[in-house]
Amino acid sequence: MGSAPSPFTPGYGRKPVVFGGHLTELDELREVFETLDFGENHSVLASGLRGSGKTSFLTTLQDDARASGWVVISDDASAGLMGRLMDSAIPGALNELEPDIRSRLISLGIWQFNAQIEYVDRHREVKPQLRTDLVALSEALGQRGILITIDEVSSSKVRLRELSKFALQVSHALTDGAQVMVVFAGVKVSLDALLEQEHVTFLRRSREVQFQRLSAHETRRVFVDTARIGGREIEDDALNLLVALSQGYPYLVQLAGDYAWRNNGTAPRITLEDATVAHTKAIRAVEDRVISRVYRDLSDRDQEFLQAMAEDDDRTRVADIVKRMGVSPQYVQVYKQRLINSGYVRPDGHGFVSFSLPYLGAYIQRQMAGAESEDSGDGGWGAYPAPTLP
Ligand SMILES: Nc1ncnc2c1ncn2[C@@H]1O[C@H](COP(=O)(O)OP(=O)(O)OP(=O)(O)O)[C@@H](O)[C@H]1O
Ligand SMILES: [Mg+2]
Repeated sequence: MGSAPSPFTPGYGRKPVVFGGHLTELDELREVFETLDFGENHSVLASGLRGSGKTSFLTTLQDDARASGWVVISDDASAGLMGRLMDSAIPGALNELEPDIRSRLISLGIWQFNAQIEYVDRHREVKPQLRTDLVALSEALGQRGILITIDEVSSSKVRLRELSKFALQVSHALTDGAQVMVVFAGVKVSLDALLEQEHVTFLRRSREVQFQRLSAHETRRVFVDTARIGGREIEDDALNLLVALSQGYPYLVQLAGDYAWRNNGTAPRITLEDATVAHTKAIRAVEDRVISRVYRDLSDRDQEFLQAMAEDDDRTRVADIVKRMGVSPQYVQVYKQRLINSGYVRPDGHGFVSFSLPYLGAYIQRQMAGAESEDSGDGGWGAYPAPTLP
């Protein structure tokens, strides 16, 4: 028998076969797709660590919205967002509509269509505004709404400027009665910066969805059901190891499941041996692909804070961080709060903190040990300087 393809999906933005957690939120938002009864769900902010499933959540919502007949527009918050929405996303969405709906759009006088009712251009007389587009599109759609997802929201100036323009237009469109749901995704600090912008009052009433690790129960479910969909079972002791090593961190769940699956792909069951092989490989891979990136993204000060924490194997007393960093307690409080907000660190009992991203502490410890013991990191070339020409 040949080996069955792995149903696990390690990789950024790869929608998992089984989506763990967030069942309540998904149910409620799906309900809105069916009923158009938005309640507080006109805007949703999805925030959490790298690799915690924000993009997958957006993709899941997009698929569900489409299944309910909604128009879906998706983009990320990079420079030129408004231009892309107006010049390509909206025209693209128009062209995908059923012909009878498209013919309703002709009379609105906003867009020009050819004989096959395909979008040609905007009418020159009407000032192009996202607000006008959304209201018109929404009217033509009748009992179906528009979902707009914006990924990769960050605190960079360009992105925030772009997003506040976008948010202002959406808020006007909502006032004019457009049936729109906007879902933003980014790390926590970036979303906070977005909320500080002017003209984004409607965002302050947003529904917030936090992405952290999955519960142990959901983690088990993801392993078992994903393997089953792929056509195999996981033995109990193997399952226990996979759940424990992944710590419910979504990217790691997929990596571990994938390595375990591939270790002996033709066997009907995933065994403890497969899970053990997966353990080492998955941790190395998650360090390479996620944790090292997370760590490099942080400022020097944040890194120093985490290094001070990594001196302990377990949780760390905040007072010890003050001593180790040699700065004031107030200063440490500021950094502590920042790292808690962005999800790297969590309070752990009164006056203590610990790492909330699994393996980050161990990674930093290894980096620090490496920095002390390693040679200059030149790959041994120090002994072979390039000779000058005789
Ligand atoms: N709810 C989930 N259950 C199981 N696996 C998941 C879930 N969400 C995401 N994953 C898996 O986790 C990995 C990372 O997902 P994703 O790219 O959505 O994360 P992200 O939060 O968008 O990361 P980043 O902040 O770096 O953009 C993927 O391999 C995906 O298949
Ligand atoms: Mg993402």
